Amino acid sequence: MSDKNSREHWGSKIGFILAAAGSAIGLGNIWKFPYLAGENGGGAFVVLYLICIVVLGLPVMIAEIVIGRHTGRDPVGAFKQIGGGRWKLVGYLGVASGFFIMTYYSVVGGWTIGYIVKSAGGFIGSMTDIRAAEETFTRFIQNPFETVFYLFLFMAITVFIVMRGIKDGIEKWNKFLLPLLFIILIVLIIRSLTLEGASAGLAFYLKPDFSKVDVKTVIEAMGQCFFSLSLGMGAMITYGSYLNKEDKILSSSLQIVTLDTFAAILSGLAIFPALFAVGMTPDKGPGLTFNILPVVFSKMSYGSVFAVLFFILLFIAALTSSISLVEVVVAFITDEKGWSRRKAVLVFGSLIFLLGIPSALSFSTLKDVRIFFGTTYFDFMDRLTTIYMLPIGGLFIALCLGWKYGLKNAIHELDADTRLAALKKMWAFSIRYISPLILVAIILYFGVYRMLFPH
Ligand code: PHE
Repeated sequence: MSDKNSREHWGSKIGFILAAAGSAIGLGNIWKFPYLAGENGGGAFVVLYLICIVVLGLPVMIAEIVIGRHTGRDPVGAFKQIGGGRWKLVGYLGVASGFFIMTYYSVVGGWTIGYIVKSAGGFIGSMTDIRAAEETFTRFIQNPFETVFYLFLFMAITVFIVMRGIKDGIEKWNKFLLPLLFIILIVLIIRSLTLEGASAGLAFYLKPDFSKVDVKTVIEAMGQCFFSLSLGMGAMITYGSYLNKEDKILSSSLQIVTLDTFAAILSGLAIFPALFAVGMTPDKGPGLTFNILPVVFSKMSYGSVFAVLFFILLFIAALTSSISLVEVVVAFITDEKGWSRRKAVLVFGSLIFLLGIPSALSFSTLKDVRIFFGTTYFDFMDRLTTIYMLPIGGLFIALCLGWKYGLKNAIHELDADTRLAALKKMWAFSIRYISPLILVAIILYFGVYRMLFPH
């Protein structure tokens, strides 16, 4: 085990906030949130989402950072310390989640690089209808060499940054990339909102329709909030473990959560007005970003420029999240097994690349190989982690802190300010009762009900 005093720390509080926000702001914000909001009541969904943030997201975020800073250790070490015995399995679950998520997240990260290159090469010009765009995308993801090459490139960039450590690698790059992400987002929003006919998209996205909100939408919003904030696997525990003792956890958490929510809401403002302005209908996930948006760009002047910007945005979002996923694994190996950072990053970066290959090939060579419940390797990794591992991890994080370790022991990590006493009480109440209940609901809904009755 490495000496605790030699453990690196963030160079500044803003460095920590940007790195954590970089982890949170990911593909989930840009391709999932806008669609979910548009489909589920627009403004009503946004309001609902904000409530989810307050009752579930923020409390668990604070809990993870508290655990990280309090123990100053990786997730496994942290749970050994605050839970002991079997609780360390919660840490292992988190590290495994980070590893598994990376095996498909990095593939999509690779796609974003591929699309930056293609957009820069001017392919947008021929994306005049959806069939052309779909064909191009299908041909791309079905090309084993190209996708594996871009996967490699994406992993190499991630490895390069994580290898440089907390201050000179993760912090430095996030401090550069995250502001850039917001600048690009704002440029795209201005372009989108000034297109003729943009208001129809705005209406689809934000017009509140409370009739679309039911129990399912509420759980959907809860699940999205949890994934979007990178909770349930120790990413925030790990980043929190490098936090200086003087930095305030409550205000930092609030800022991280605010940045993440902003990024999610703003993405929709960039996407839907443009989409409706050119008379297209929304689709979700990869379909929206890779099949529909190229057509949208083909219909605006300087479309290639905006396409390059958009895919850079997506790339940054994927990269800064991947950095945190890899760091969870690396922190575990360096803290618990005493490896050097360099060796840990190289070995596990390579392993992720190797296990990412079947994900990359899930659309070509391995298309017909079904792993579980009729899913491809790519889909399996996605579902296993987002539907089961993260919410289960989150549940046990809350239970360990709230019931085993006890909040009295943890609460002194929070700002000493007595004016915040009521807030701290609310936090404690959520961690003990509300968060676990919601997480159980999420696990039952997504993991059992939706698995048995897919719609
Ligand atoms: N929060 C990221 C997103 O929105 C995904 C992620 C989950 C990253 C868990 C790290 C840990 O895409």
